[in-house]
Amino acid sequence: MNSKVNGATPVLRVENLSHSFGEGQARVEALRGVSFEARAGEVTAIVGPSGCGKSTMLYLLGLLDQPDSGEIYLRGKPMTQADDSTRTALRNKSIGFVFQFHFLIKEFTARENVAMPLRKAGVLSDEALFQAEKFLKQLGLSDKAKRFANKLSGGEQQRVAIARALVNSPDLILADEPTGNLDAANSDRVFDVLLKFARDNGPAVILVTHNPELAKRCDRRLPMLDGKFVEE
Ligand SMILES: Nc1ncnc2c1ncn2[C@@H]1O[C@H](COP(=O)(O)OP(=O)(O)OP(=O)(O)O)[C@@H](O)[C@H]1O
Ligand SMILES: [Mg+2]
Repeated sequence: MNSKVNGATPVLRVENLSHSFGEGQARVEALRGVSFEARAGEVTAIVGPSGCGKSTMLYLLGLLDQPDSGEIYLRGKPMTQADDSTRTALRNKSIGFVFQFHFLIKEFTARENVAMPLRKAGVLSDEALFQAEKFLKQLGLSDKAKRFANKLSGGEQQRVAIARALVNSPDLILADEPTGNLDAANSDRVFDVLLKFARDNGPAVILVTHNPELAKRCDRRLPMLDGKFVEE
């Protein structure tokens, strides 16, 4: 295990996070008081059956919604009090996302999609595209770099989304089934890139996976059931 794993301040600390959807009869308690920490360089797998709250958790950790109660600390700073502009800035600079649905911009090429977070951070176009191509190469997509996103297969789009999440070296990487659409070989390749990236660059990685083999290769697994973490 990487020595960075045991660093002092956790990248992420979650305290008693709860979240529900809907009202009255239709109310769903998606998260019921979840607490955990994630450290730099550490890869955590959240596992559990469909509907147990995994995506809801990543969504909240990604500062895309406010929890009903509880607190999220990013590098020790409480996030629920932060104003929208602070949250947006942190999201752009410090968090890399791989969603269950990729949300690529279809009028952009693969490399333009990957370059987006760098462009937002003020990196000049040529340099951003150069960096984007480096990540696409690691994910086996060199020959697809200039192809429009809507002309790529589902698995290729997923790998582009992963390159986009890594390109600006975020502190926290959130990945919802990052290998869900991939065949075994590409699933391994993507997983290797994520693990190596965590080891080399030290972000905390939190991923959701239904693949027990991949979950085993993570530093730890947090099994979830009905909106809570449970013993394995
Ligand atoms: N926008 C929403 N409105 C109402 N209910 C929702 C909404 N999003 C999620 N839920 C409900 O919250 C619960 C948790 O959903 P979530 O998407 O977090 O599950 P999951 O563990 O990611 O499942 P999967 O493995 O199928 O992706 C489920 O009961 C789901 O139906
Ligand atoms: Mg989900």
